[in-house]
Amino acid sequence: MQGKRILLGVTGGIAAYKSPDLVRRLRERGAEVQVVMTAAAREFVTPMTFQAVSGRPVRTELWDAAAEAAMGHIELARWAEVVLIAPASADFLARLATGQADDLLATLCLATEAPIAVAPAMNHIMWANAATRANVATLQQRGVQVLGPAEGDQACGEVGEGRMLEPLELVDRVATLLVGGGPLQGRRVLITAGPTRERIDPVRFISNRSSGKMGFAVAQAAREAGAEVVLVSGPVGLPTPPGVRRVDVESAEDMLTAVLREVEGTDIFISTAAVADYRPASAAAQKIKKTTDTMDLCMERTTDVLATVAARPDRPFVVGFAAETESVEQNARAKLLKKNLDLIAANEVRHDKAFECEENQLVVLWRNGRRDLGKASKLTLARALVAHIAESFAAAHKGAAQRGTALG
Ligand code: CTP
Repeated sequence: MQGKRILLGVTGGIAAYKSPDLVRRLRERGAEVQVVMTAAAREFVTPMTFQAVSGRPVRTELWDAAAEAAMGHIELARWAEVVLIAPASADFLARLATGQADDLLATLCLATEAPIAVAPAMNHIMWANAATRANVATLQQRGVQVLGPAEGDQACGEVGEGRMLEPLELVDRVATLLVGGGPLQGRRVLITAGPTRERIDPVRFISNRSSGKMGFAVAQAAREAGAEVVLVSGPVGLPTPPGVRRVDVESAEDMLTAVLREVEGTDIFISTAAVADYRPASAAAQKIKKTTDTMDLCMERTTDVLATVAARPDRPFVVGFAAETESVEQNARAKLLKKNLDLIAANEVRHDKAFECEENQLVVLWRNGRRDLGKASKLTLARALVAHIAESFAAAHKGAAQRGTALG
């Protein structure tokens, strides 16, 4: 974060007492921080506190002639490499969602081209309110990164979802919005994640057990490594990692269509999705009634997304996943060869090991080698996996360049 220019917007909420610490943490990592406060924020913390920790005068008013003469609000909007609003109150989210320009901070958000991240903090019922949900959905659609909130004890004495993320976590999340110079800088990575749903009738489907956590962690790690990341995801309940473009799909066929649309220009394809291998041969148009004791469902194979990408003449570097209940490495190696992959990450899924939990265990295999990444949190493993992929990709790329052949 050395030398990065962060505009920190502070809005009115009790969590504002944590924001001076956030400024210090950002500055510890080398960032320059310009604080802009709303009127409500000044009811909780004084501008003097932020001036002391940021080393810069705090901006509060749109109509402050002296401050405008020093750096006008449009210049300030251009200065920012990222805008972080922490805490972001329910009121500010509403004003941002409706494009208001009624104070300095809201105006800056309209006038900036920098990525905007918000760290909501409010009472859990306010967070759950339909109006707030709609505002957050609108902001996410426009590419605003919503960081948190976390669950836990609230200042109002209640417990629930609405706490601002802790300063150190916010610093990490903002760092991923500012990445530059990582091993995948300038590379485009396409990732599939989550399960797919294959319709039986309008109210029923067949799916696979997958939370999508591993794929989302891989997307975050690839972004941290500097890549442009596109994440094609089946139905999951996970937030999009900062800086990642997400395409939501439902069925295996939708996933194939989305991947084929996005694959051009892709350097690395990572297939973590638990794609359904079979789908009902025909989905019933109306709800199927239980008129018989038994029922046959005729299923047909879906297209293998991973193998389709690997078979392209202009194929990217291709990485598959294998979830196995037995003979893990042997089965994974067979898939590596059969689908013509560059790498495969294998994990054992016996005893519910990998599903819906935060930890995982991975072994990476390639034609003449293996590397055990051990057992760790999904994000730690994803970072190790992405580092390994980046090394292998660079080596393959160099080899292809020397032979004068194309790779991705
Ligand atoms: N995959 C895919 N499209 C499919 C099926 C699987 O892209 N229709 C990808 C998965 O994302 C994963 C890898 O292929 O990277 C898993 O291989 P696969 O042979 O499908 O594994 P299983 O379904 O477990 O196969 P099997 O039932 O034969 O063990």
